[in-house]
Amino acid sequence: MAGQWVRLELDLSAFDTDRFERYVTTCRDEGIRLTTLAELGDTPEHRRALYELNKECSADIPERGEFFSYEEFCARRFDVPSYDPRGVVIARDGDDWIGMAATSRHEHFLFNEMTGVRASYRGRGISIAMKTYGMGFARLCGIRRVRTFHHPANDSAIGMNRAMGYADTE
Ligand SMILES: CC(C)(COP(=O)(O)OP(=O)(O)OC[C@H]1O[C@@H](n2cnc3c(N)ncnc32)[C@H](O)[C@@H]1OP(=O)(O)O)[C@@H](O)C(=O)NCCC(=O)NCCS
Repeated sequence: MAGQWVRLELDLSAFDTDRFERYVTTCRDEGIRLTTLAELGDTPEHRRALYELNKECSADIPERGEFFSYEEFCARRFDVPSYDPRGVVIARDGDDWIGMAATSRHEHFLFNEMTGVRASYRGRGISIAMKTYGMGFARLCGIRRVRTFHHPANDSAIGMNRAMGYADTE
């Protein structure tokens, strides 16, 4: 399978910020609040909420299979040098966590670990709003490239990234 992933990369210097900021504004107008795990507090309770949201959204990734246990998730996502809570964007409707766009930080690029929106909130561009909001972190780090890869059947994720300007890469 690994050879068949759709590998995508966004060059931030070519990112049309003005165009995509509109998604952030629309979210806010609809009462969806965007924030980061750092701003909310990188607490055990919030890490668990992120896990539950990630697990729920991952069930819709083609051929994803069984999701990690909480312990595995912590080891992969939090207990690694590339973790930074400023790079984990959360969308909330009231107190409910309804979307996430988590990145990890590497020397020359950010990696999109997981973008997910709860099923009942999809189709409103919330993923694009979260990822646009997260660009602020890339700029803060002085990073110009954002990478991701997807299962070839994951049309919505691939389409969402292509809409933002992500292009195929090796
Ligand atoms: C992928 C996901 C995050 C997108 O969430 P979303 O914010 O609801 O996305 P939207 O439906 O609003 O689409 C955003 C844009 O993506 C593109 N898009 C969405 N679905 C598409 C499809 N099936 N084919 C092509 N492009 C598509 C469109 O450009 C769309 O913008 P537009 O509606 O203004 O044209 C969501 O479907 C999800 O959580 N899926 C399960 C988890 C997952 O697969 N995550 C990715 C792996 S990390």
